[in-house]
Amino acid sequence: MSQTNPAKITLGDKTVDLPVMKGTLGPDVVDIRKLYAETDAFTYDPGFTSTASCESKITFIDGDKGVLLHRGYPIGQLAEQSSFLETCYLLLHGELPTAAEFEPFETSITRHTMLHEQFDRFFSGFRRDAHPMAIMTGAVGALSAFYHDSLDIHDLKQREISAHRLIAKMPTIAARAYKYSVGQPFVHPRNNLSYSENFLRMCFAVPAEDYVANPILTKAMDRIFILHADHEQNASTSTVRLAGSSGANPFACIAAGIACLWGPSHGGANEEALNMLKEIGTPERIPEFIEGVKARKYKLMGFGHRVYKNYDPRATVMKQSADEVLEAVGDKNDPLFQVAKELEQIALKDEFFIERKLYPNVDFYSGITLSAMGFPTTMFTVLFALARTVGWIAQWKEMIEDPGQKIGRPRQLYTGSGPRDYVPVSQRG
Ligand code: CMC
Repeated sequence: MSQTNPAKITLGDKTVDLPVMKGTLGPDVVDIRKLYAETDAFTYDPGFTSTASCESKITFIDGDKGVLLHRGYPIGQLAEQSSFLETCYLLLHGELPTAAEFEPFETSITRHTMLHEQFDRFFSGFRRDAHPMAIMTGAVGALSAFYHDSLDIHDLKQREISAHRLIAKMPTIAARAYKYSVGQPFVHPRNNLSYSENFLRMCFAVPAEDYVANPILTKAMDRIFILHADHEQNASTSTVRLAGSSGANPFACIAAGIACLWGPSHGGANEEALNMLKEIGTPERIPEFIEGVKARKYKLMGFGHRVYKNYDPRATVMKQSADEVLEAVGDKNDPLFQVAKELEQIALKDEFFIERKLYPNVDFYSGITLSAMGFPTTMFTVLFALARTVGWIAQWKEMIEDPGQKIGRPRQLYTGSGPRDYVPVSQRG
């Protein structure tokens, strides 16, 4: 990180110099850490639209150009040529692994997939109709009650074990959340299967019939995981960092991230996007739906992004995956896919969307793909959480390992009442 000429800010008759930092890529960053001490003023930026909350080497996004890089590698290349586990290694360690480095990593993840026997009883405390994200939030937080030997965040080895445990156990927990909701027995992990095939088997095998893997679906699952693995300082990642900044254990921090991800403006959008397509139903109803968006009755879910003001590069890969999966399951003419494709075309030509730079995001086509693979809508965000766990834990690790790390503590613009004296209830009126 280098520095250029300082920025100057004048408040009243006082002018202060603020250092301007240059990253490897992306806009310059004005370092305002000394601003309050020197001027007695805060900056105001609700929603953090102009604020870099940390320094990071993990993921880079150029929203105007539609670029997403993990440790410098374009998402399209990773989705095409890498595997999810290799991408996990990349995010955690900063480099693609050699074969000799990957083998012990893969073995460690594979050997951590089982859950403590008592953990399974935890699920039966939930109602059968509980949303699987509610189960995920509770169950992942509960990991800290089961794995006491990896909670010391100051111990590098324990941090690594927690990271591996989280990546390994998320598929098992997610599959159990699904099995519980459909009233089927849990399926234990199988160490001879790949990460994604093992997950699909834990979701779709039943005691009466084993799961027959379809390599196209396994590949699509793995690619969907890669597409969701990390995304810079989004709401859930910032939540994980903020929770972790107080020294909370990694399982608790990831549970906080899952809670944030659940919202419809974030990870919950994939569920909402598919519900929206179902509601539209046929291409003829698209114009009427678009009019409702423009009248601000509702949003076009799966469209728009805080950072991307161009096509989300993940959406390009996701659309291709949707095509492949639908063909593999013999549903190439799926009416919802037709509605989605036509809706996209109409929106991209419409002034309302052009003016606001609203393009499809990763969630626009993911619901159609996951639905064709056999997942109910309530599981969509769970799959997002499963995949994003590596990003969250990589970002958490980066923060803990930063010697300058401080507890996150934003300030505020107070607009409430000034000081006043307490009035006894008998005198209020
Ligand atoms: N449909 C209709 N109008 C929209 C949409 C949309 N999907 N998204 C933004 N706008 C409008 C918004 O009303 C505003 O218009 P105006 O300036 O006239 O008031 C303008 O575009 C700017 O939007 P904004 O709300 O200021 O943008 P934001 O950066 O705060 O919000 C967003 C980003 C993702 C929350 C928003 O685009 C949205 O709600 N999209 C739908 C939900 C969605 O698909 N979320 C998934 C995001 S990608 C995966 C993830 O990160 O989890």
